[in-house]
Amino acid sequence: MYFATRIRAFAGAAALLAASAIAQAQTALPNVVILATGGTIAGAGASAVNSATYSAAKVPVDKLIAGLPELSKVASIRGEQVFQIASESLTNDNLLVLAKRVSALAKQPDVDGIVITHGTDTLEETAYFLTLTVHTSKPIIVVGSMRPGTALSADGALNLFDAVNVAASKDAAGKGVLVTMNDEIHTGRDVSKTVNIKTEAFKSQWGPLGMVVEGRNYWFRAPVKRHTMQSEFDIDTINALPPVEIAYGYEGVPATAIDALAKSGIKALIHGGTGNGSVADRIVPVLQKVRGDGILVIRSSRVPDGFVIRNAEQPDDKYDWVVAHDLRPQKARILAMVALTKTSDTKELQRIFWEY
Ligand code: DGL
Repeated sequence: MYFATRIRAFAGAAALLAASAIAQAQTALPNVVILATGGTIAGAGASAVNSATYSAAKVPVDKLIAGLPELSKVASIRGEQVFQIASESLTNDNLLVLAKRVSALAKQPDVDGIVITHGTDTLEETAYFLTLTVHTSKPIIVVGSMRPGTALSADGALNLFDAVNVAASKDAAGKGVLVTMNDEIHTGRDVSKTVNIKTEAFKSQWGPLGMVVEGRNYWFRAPVKRHTMQSEFDIDTINALPPVEIAYGYEGVPATAIDALAKSGIKALIHGGTGNGSVADRIVPVLQKVRGDGILVIRSSRVPDGFVIRNAEQPDDKYDWVVAHDLRPQKARILAMVALTKTSDTKELQRIFWEY
């Protein structure tokens, strides 16, 4: 009898200890906030075979979280629905609202990491904007999916699981804004959507920083361009973005688009030239006039990889033009908008394009 009582008492105590250990383990989990903006990761199709025909921006964040119970072992999660928009329709104002929310959350001591679910079409632009303007060393991960959750071999669940794992990881701190897609970890600066119908859609021409596999991060390199805490730009002091637009070069290109953009009140024009940022002979005087009218001219290239070399295809010093380095036109536009909140000096702008 005596031993039976002792054994029951011991078992009771052991159960209490175990429950307390689990509770402590739960409370010890990092706190990760998921900010949802829409996109295919929140998309839904009519049937499982609809991997490309579906409606984006339908599933609310709480349903995304509930559909992934594995997250509860990785972090203490809470979600906020910032927008429910397909990303091709996001605006500068949406960017400002999102970045200010990320900045405010990052300052909270009870937030260890932030995940932003986003459409893939313009994910690279948002990720770069956050890279340039949010002052935190906490992990900020932008994630999307190429297929809706309703499709066969949907990629959103694993992408989101990876993103939360990286956001909850101490070793992801201080690496800038990151993008997890298709098991890879990219920088918000370098990554671009390079394929529009495959799950392996996102590439960085200088390579990913690493991979995340079964919830573990494998790092192989670190960023060298300025980001987040190293940035001279701060979203908390930015309340509007100067208009900057893009005009592309191609065979037979007329001056029509550039003329119209120049008259629309833009502060800078990104020229997405051919090759090494080349400008057609007949367009050179048009861009010189644009510069003469006080609008900054920034030479980028329509070629996905490589980088524009200053004073190579065009005498940039002579024309007082800026080169976009390795930034594609859509990324050069983001940096130009942010840079113009501080300066319109050409030499300062060129420094900024070398450094960020
Ligand atoms: N409408 C596109 C977007 O929201 C869907 C593409 C996607 O999210 O994968 O970016």
